[in-house]
Amino acid sequence: VVSTKIAPSMLSSDFANLAAEAKRMVDLGADWLHMDIMDGHFVPNLTIGAPVIESLRKHTNAYLDCHLMVTNPMDYVEQMGKAGASGFTFHVEVAKENWQELVRKVKSAGMRPGVALKPGTPVEEVYPLVEGETPVEMVLVMTVEPGFGGQKFMPSMMDKVRALRQKYPTLDIEVDGGLGPSTIEAAAAAGANCIVAGSSVFGAPEPGEVISLLRTSVEK
Ligand code: DX5
Ligand code: ZN
Repeated sequence: VVSTKIAPSMLSSDFANLAAEAKRMVDLGADWLHMDIMDGHFVPNLTIGAPVIESLRKHTNAYLDCHLMVTNPMDYVEQMGKAGASGFTFHVEVAKENWQELVRKVKSAGMRPGVALKPGTPVEEVYPLVEGETPVEMVLVMTVEPGFGGQKFMPSMMDKVRALRQKYPTLDIEVDGGLGPSTIEAAAAAGANCIVAGSSVFGAPEPGEVISLLRTSVEK
């Protein structure tokens, strides 16, 4: 049995008021806070890193669902663990050789390992990581090209979600990019249980209503 996790993407929040924004989301019913770590190399955008996670951790005990869009995830494991990250999701495209060591290190640093895949990456590439002897505990299916909030959901990615759900009934499957009231039905029907939503939550007049709607759609 998988549980629903609604994870507002803090990329769409007011970074200058991150602690207050985090508290606001938790108070409105968020299960996780999705933190987009970008290095300006794996993706053409630069965001935040471990120092910001460390600062935020002093203000919240929420689950910090960290999505590492970086070329060398191994280089960040230790500092992210010390900073207080809860989940550490790296991209399969940059971990083809060393994923077993990476997953081991993520776990020993006290974080929950996850693997993400870009829209152009076939879903089969993550199967070994789910089935390994030290498996990842979540697969993040990108439903936009990583790098920016506010892009359009790619419905064709639901084939990947369906394939994963069919193979792994209890796996946490996260979708990220363009999720909101108009796209949640497709993601929920395909079997996603962890829902990242940035612009649809932060851009809404009543973000709490969007969080509730997302949850209801996944759970019905
Ligand atoms: C994109 C990030 C997403 C992004 C989602 O590279 O991984 O987490 O913040 O934003 P929305 O929900 O606006 O597409
Ligand atoms: Zn993300």
